[in-house]
Amino acid sequence: MRLENGGPSVAEMMAPYDHEVAPYRFEDLQALGRVVMRPRAVNWKNVADNYSDGLHIPVAHPGLTRLFGRGYAIEANDHVDKMWGGLIERESVNLSERLYQRLLPPVAHLPPERQRLWTYFKLWPNVAFDIYPDQVDFMQFLPVSPTQTLIREIAYVLPDDRREMKAARYLNWRINRQVNREDTALIARVQQGMASSSYTVGPLGTSEVCLRSFARKLRALIPEARLHHPPAPGWSRRPGIHAHA
Ligand SMILES: [Fe+2]
Repeated sequence: MRLENGGPSVAEMMAPYDHEVAPYRFEDLQALGRVVMRPRAVNWKNVADNYSDGLHIPVAHPGLTRLFGRGYAIEANDHVDKMWGGLIERESVNLSERLYQRLLPPVAHLPPERQRLWTYFKLWPNVAFDIYPDQVDFMQFLPVSPTQTLIREIAYVLPDDRREMKAARYLNWRINRQVNREDTALIARVQQGMASSSYTVGPLGTSEVCLRSFARKLRALIPEARLHHPPAPGWSRRPGIHAHA
């Protein structure tokens, strides 16, 4: 799978992280449930930026903050953003989070440093993997219109009949369903702000290496992305732009 203009393949993009992903045995994963389509009334770049934004974690996600403490980190590679956090020892006050901390069992195929680690990879421009010890969620942000996006999502697992693992997978879903609600509310507000007449382009914090990397690539492909006001209707029909946009 790649962009129609011949961008890098998934394998090429992920090459710098092959060694990190290898233990999760992607080729042996099996779908858990079906593909879920989540419509969102926002531009797809709003969803993509939200996924890689580091500063919104302590502000928008109290659950993740309880699970990771201050240990959430982000980095940007050429075509991949990586975000990660390790579960802290202190038990969460939230029941689902606390039970997940307690019940998540050892996973034989993972090295010690990945037993309690959540890692997120976002591939240029709209594909993501949420990699947990208990499962791997695959996600795409599919543009439908300038103000509509479909989030296409499905979870994959390795066969594991242990009751603790089944419980951990259920609790993971509970925890991340709440995270999803928080992000949905946040991106709706961002989209509202973009639609208002007082909206202006703001600076990105220097710590937001993933957002800066995304914006840099987008501006190189679509110079209009630098404009502080929308270009005239029809701008995207100029020759060549369809291959990128
Ligand atoms: Fe988020």
